[in-house]
Amino acid sequence: MEPKAAIADLDRRYGIPDVAKIVAGNGGLAKVRITSAAAKGEMYLHGAHVTSWQPRDAEEVLFVSAKSGWQDGHAIRGGVPICFPWFANKAGDPGAPSHGFVRTISWQLESISQADNAVTVSMFTKSNDMTKKWWPADFHLVHRATFASGLRLELVVRNMGTASFHFEEALHSYFRVGQIEKAQLHGLNGVQYLDKTDSNRKKLQYGAIAIVSETDRVYLNTTGAVELEDHGLRRRIRVDKENSLTTVVWNPWVEKAKAMADFGAEEWIRMVCIETSNVSDFAVELAPGQQHKIQSTVRLADL
Ligand code: BG6
Repeated sequence: MEPKAAIADLDRRYGIPDVAKIVAGNGGLAKVRITSAAAKGEMYLHGAHVTSWQPRDAEEVLFVSAKSGWQDGHAIRGGVPICFPWFANKAGDPGAPSHGFVRTISWQLESISQADNAVTVSMFTKSNDMTKKWWPADFHLVHRATFASGLRLELVVRNMGTASFHFEEALHSYFRVGQIEKAQLHGLNGVQYLDKTDSNRKKLQYGAIAIVSETDRVYLNTTGAVELEDHGLRRRIRVDKENSLTTVVWNPWVEKAKAMADFGAEEWIRMVCIETSNVSDFAVELAPGQQHKIQSTVRLADL
């Protein structure tokens, strides 16, 4: 929770009248609230976490759990958590936080800008004593989110050190669906994936993806768009990406949903994650002084 005076000060320095306001969000955490002619949106400093994007005349696109925690040291359940520098569990270190350490800390606001009806919010974080307890690298990380008729997310990793480093990353996007059994994912036909619900066995996708049980898959060597066809909300969500070679698809289904403290027992019906990522064998190697940018663009269309 940020003190009210600090939030008011951020608003004075970075706010844009009638367009972007920094306010106290859930749990008193600071968030940027966007209102433009093209879209509404929200991004928390905590985790540089986008929790809402609602294009004009459309319903909310992102899912956020009603049971989510909103506090330092915990990840927000829903929206777009940023996973870095590892995905899921850290290899060889079971005590390390799941999906890395940047989704549970407060980032710094860098800028808010407006061009036509698009509003871009930029936040950054960098290595410090805490991050070095888990991972020795010197890094600088920027998350730039552009709220418009589409939602563009860019994560830029820069190597500030003198040695190369190796990292995984994901824009772990939770999408809202009307009813998961009435939704299908297109764009991954003929693609190999690791099935995390079946000891990471490598399998081949045939046709569209229907979610009919716990689903936790890493699709490999993917470059194209994925389309979520949602007959419940009568809309299509298209996710395009750049510099990303894996796509993770996740729905916890009944049992896992019950076991998660920060997720409602019935909420698996209303969400699916489609994660633009570079994980597993597609982790990124970054030389000193170099930077890497992964990008995901989400658009909405009627069915
Ligand atoms: C997905 C992983 O991306 O995130 C799943 O593939 C994991 O294995 C899920 O269960 C949620 O992770 P967490 O750490 O946010 O509970």
